[in-house]
Amino acid sequence: MSFIVAIDGPAGSGKGTITKLVAKDLGFITVDTGAMYRAVALECINQGVSYTDLDKIEKILENIKIEFKKSGENQLVFLNGKNVSEAIRTPEIDDVVAKYSAIKIVREKVTPIQRKMGEHQDIIMEGRDIGTVVFPNANVKIFLECSLEERARRRYKQNLQKGIDETYEEVLESMKERHKLEVEREISPFVKATDAITVDSTNLTIPEVVETIEKIIRDKMN
Ligand code: DC
Repeated sequence: MSFIVAIDGPAGSGKGTITKLVAKDLGFITVDTGAMYRAVALECINQGVSYTDLDKIEKILENIKIEFKKSGENQLVFLNGKNVSEAIRTPEIDDVVAKYSAIKIVREKVTPIQRKMGEHQDIIMEGRDIGTVVFPNANVKIFLECSLEERARRRYKQNLQKGIDETYEEVLESMKERHKLEVEREISPFVKATDAITVDSTNLTIPEVVETIEKIIRDKMN
């Protein structure tokens, strides 16, 4: 049986960074499930398919191939054989991804792929519905919280480093809107699993969050 750690949290809560660091320390494989929804959104955008056009989305889902490949310290995301690791993280995708990820057929396609990834290997999977839907029986469930303002501040700083031109207010608005869609959607809404442990990263440094989560995991493993 594999050991599964589910980390759910909103955009900008530090999930990605923290998951990578914890996985490295503990020897786990990581899966960034948001990247899979981003890849679906990107393919739809590339093909000019709106989130309202379910027939066309169904066709896209029939043939879509999303893969993760390790490259040194990084995990690259491939969409139909092409490296889209950067293309899935633009403000354009940020703005539309929650619409595509709320679609039932999209989640029905992606969720089984995620479950399969946890069948034979110890993993830390991060997303929004990992502890509630993908792995309701995960060995450890973490709910990573962080205030909206701090999350927007972090994303704004990241964007600046990437040369993305968005004001703090624009980032904040976009995050607020996306969060609303994620918590209010009908299928797999973003909610805390009743048995998840909350870690609030608002006033903690990255090493502090990593240490807190590693302690929770180690306690469970022993
Ligand atoms: O974590 P992220 O910002 O890269 O996620 C991208 C989008 O995918 C976001 O709108 C939430 C959605 N998502 C989801 O619905 N379920 C997941 N398990 C992971 C992400």
